[in-house]
Amino acid sequence: MRDKRETINTLCLILICVLIQVIVFVFIFFSNVPSMRLEQVVILSRHNVRTPLSKNLGRMTPQPWPHFKEKPGYLTEKGFVLEGYMGTFFFSWLHNEGLLSKNCPTDEEFYVYANSMQRTLLSAQAFVNNAFPDCNIIVHHTDLNKTDLIFNPVIHNSSAIFKDIALKEMKYVLDNLNLEQSYKSMENILNYKYSDLCKLENECDMNKDKNQLEILVGKKPKLSGPLKLCNEAIDDFLMSYYNGFPMEEVAWGKLNEKNKWHSVLDLTAGYHNVTFNTTQVSKDIAKPLLKYMTDIFNNKISNVVLLMGHDANINVILNAMSFKPYNLPDSFVSAPIGGKIVFQKWFDMTLNKYLLKINYVYQTNKQLRHGHVLSLKSPPNFALLELKYCKTDNNGFCLWDDFLRFLNKIYDNNYKALF
Ligand SMILES: *[C@@H]1O[C@H](CO)[C@@H](O)[C@H](O)[C@H]1NC(C)=O
Ligand SMILES: *[C@@H]1O[C@H](CO)[C@@H](O)[C@H](O)[C@H]1NC(C)=O
Ligand SMILES: *[C@@H]1O[C@H](CO)[C@@H](O)[C@H](O)[C@H]1NC(C)=O
Ligand SMILES: *[C@@H]1O[C@H](CO)[C@@H](O)[C@H](O)[C@H]1NC(C)=O
Repeated sequence: MRDKRETINTLCLILICVLIQVIVFVFIFFSNVPSMRLEQVVILSRHNVRTPLSKNLGRMTPQPWPHFKEKPGYLTEKGFVLEGYMGTFFFSWLHNEGLLSKNCPTDEEFYVYANSMQRTLLSAQAFVNNAFPDCNIIVHHTDLNKTDLIFNPVIHNSSAIFKDIALKEMKYVLDNLNLEQSYKSMENILNYKYSDLCKLENECDMNKDKNQLEILVGKKPKLSGPLKLCNEAIDDFLMSYYNGFPMEEVAWGKLNEKNKWHSVLDLTAGYHNVTFNTTQVSKDIAKPLLKYMTDIFNNKISNVVLLMGHDANINVILNAMSFKPYNLPDSFVSAPIGGKIVFQKWFDMTLNKYLLKINYVYQTNKQLRHGHVLSLKSPPNFALLELKYCKTDNNGFCLWDDFLRFLNKIYDNNYKALF
């Protein structure tokens, strides 16, 4: 009798324990207690849609190019609108994570620094106008008439050995490109046979014409010849496409299907691979920007820092920090217009540790061309980026301390001499 009662009591106790566990579990599961807190964000951005830059366009085809109303190299009206959408999105996201308040931010809460060119300054302005309407945010920049050393993607090392190594590396990449079909497609699109370059200068065969490399201190690494021309043409196609020109005006209607784009995009990838993606050249060009960024990571100057520069800045930083190869779905290129490398410092309350996550945040081809408004419900794409020397977990986080140690090591090894 007594035994039976004890058994029942024990069973009841077990049942109560299980019930409590279930209730606690359900509570935790649905109460959504955040275990991660966003602490700091550093954004390295490319300006948004600009007009084409090249002076060679008229010589490479007999066909007329689309007419942009803005000056060459300027941010377009559409680019201003698109970058504004990014500003709106980033504010929503960072406000949602508790990193930005509804009040106008101080420099310690949000700091923006842009290269002193029209397209970078105006991109930064578009971003802050929409992120913080009615706030008078100062876009920091250097003297308008001076090149900003931090953003200028030029060679610093003046030694003959450096020049020799750099040219060899670039030549190696150039010689290993396989672009025969792409050149043929491009000649077709341009109607190259009837261009001034062919008729007046006898440059008629992109597969045979010579590509030349040049490395000079204080200048960008230079490639001249068919690969450079092709990159300039594709740049025009892309900007016209993103800017919303009718498809019959974009590459004269010859790129109206996705697989046709892919017949020429290797040329752009190849061009960037040669100019801003070899180890010695990237590490040298990246120095001032890498030092600036290392300082920001070491001594947090602001909760959120936005750096507004160029694709060359992004490419050399990706190389100098040894990022793993990545792939950006729904983007024609590896450094999309308006795209952002977003370094996030998170605090994991369960682990009691700081973690790093890095995403490439960018507007897709469609979002750019159709001018889609961005929001938390329809965000830009987030692609995970990983560093070779900072091991990530299954969710893409690596240890913040590992990241800092690595950054300071490359700084100590290669950079102290220069500053
Ligand atoms: C930049 O140079 C132009 C002329 O070259 C001059 O008119 C203008 O005032 C300068 N701007 C600044 C900020 O120095
Ligand atoms: C220039 O490049 C050479 C070869 O890579 C290197 O040994 C030298 O340290 C570099 N100089 C500076 C100032 O970075
Ligand atoms: C870029 O160059 C690397 C070697 O440096 C090569 O592995 C890669 O395939 C190249 N990518 C393109 C698109 O040419
Ligand atoms: C840069 O080169 C690396 C190999 O050295 C390659 O994996 C990567 O795809 C290249 N990046 C671009 C944008 O071509």
